[in-house]
Amino acid sequence: MFKSLFQKSKNNKITYLDSGATSMKLDLVVDAEIEFLTKFNTNTHNEVSENSSIINEVIEKLRVKVKEFLNAKDGNVAFVSGSTFALNQLAFGLIDEIDSKDEIVITSVEHSANLLPWIEITNKTKAKLNYFDLNDNGTIKIENIKNVINKNTKIVSFAHISNTLGYENNVKAIVDEIRRINPKILIYVDCAQSISHTKIDLNDWDVDAIVFSAHKMYGPFGLGILWAKDALLDRLKPLVLGGGNIVNVDKNSYLLSEPPYKFEAGTMNLSSIYSFDKLLSWYKLIDFNSINKYEKELKEYFVTEFKKLNDENIIIYNLDNNQVSILFNVKGVSSQDFAIFLEKKYQIITRAGQHCAQLTKELINSKTTIRATLSIFNTRKDIDKLIEAFKDKNSWTDYIF
Ligand SMILES: Cc1ncc(COP(=O)(O)O)c(C=O)c1O
Repeated sequence: MFKSLFQKSKNNKITYLDSGATSMKLDLVVDAEIEFLTKFNTNTHNEVSENSSIINEVIEKLRVKVKEFLNAKDGNVAFVSGSTFALNQLAFGLIDEIDSKDEIVITSVEHSANLLPWIEITNKTKAKLNYFDLNDNGTIKIENIKNVINKNTKIVSFAHISNTLGYENNVKAIVDEIRRINPKILIYVDCAQSISHTKIDLNDWDVDAIVFSAHKMYGPFGLGILWAKDALLDRLKPLVLGGGNIVNVDKNSYLLSEPPYKFEAGTMNLSSIYSFDKLLSWYKLIDFNSINKYEKELKEYFVTEFKKLNDENIIIYNLDNNQVSILFNVKGVSSQDFAIFLEKKYQIITRAGQHCAQLTKELINSKTTIRATLSIFNTRKDIDKLIEAFKDKNSWTDYIF
């Protein structure tokens, strides 16, 4: 199911614990990419080509399929390059409507993709950038929302699940509270980390836009999904101009296409769109409750085994979350060095550093960490291996150059 798990390594088997960065790809995704590139290899919007009409049809049907996947009763879907692009599109697409009287609210545990655009926008427009109060685990403190949301708040943007501490925000309760205070606010949710683990039900969330990336959900690279309500799609100005997003142009002006086409200038990532379509058919067959259950069991197994170690040298910042992220440090060893040890000696792939969420340090009092992320293709054996590496104290510093 996941050929890519058997990458070249000493014993031909790696322990992949870096799904937070990118998940392994399902074989059916890899096969579909190859199929598209070898069988169709065409560009869109060529009315006379049979292959071109095939992919045109895939794209249009896929918009509907994505909406079904998200249980979205309205709105539309634009295909972009990733969550980063989609979040930038949401931010800069309204810059002309933002001025110094406006306020924008985010959290300090956002990924840079949902932080930097807002810093830039508020610097440019002189609007105010506010931050939600957070619980110790990085989730939004619902009872304090009233302190940061007011009649001047124009946009709120936050992650469903943060990419560091990995706790889940109660989006419905947060949105209800925001709407109670000011119903006009535009609410964006970054679902990059949650999309493959939790069922997103837009019928349950009264939000204006969500974003996610296909490569974090066993799918292809280079494809991001922006779902937004029609009224917002109409208001947003596209970040990129070019072929495919205009209906008319003369020497001094142009007329933009309707949404979602106005967000899709240039050649789209067609092989990824083709394989993503197959991926969503796979998601239709599986049940998110079973995914949740399996991943939670894995995490519980890790917690049990880790507690048996009783080793104070290993600090885990999110042991009590029942999500897939394990964020940790080892006393006396830099996070980078420990991640190198894990990979060199045990072929365990993790990630060390600031995870593009530099403000998380305010919560955990450490600039860098190691992140291991569990996923459906992991097993108890992978956890046993991590625990074995934790026990192998004498080798922890052997790989420091
Ligand atoms: C919470 C979150 N948002 C946004 C992104 C950016 O996603 P991409 O790199 O696919 O654009 C990431 C990537 O790690 C993420 O974890």
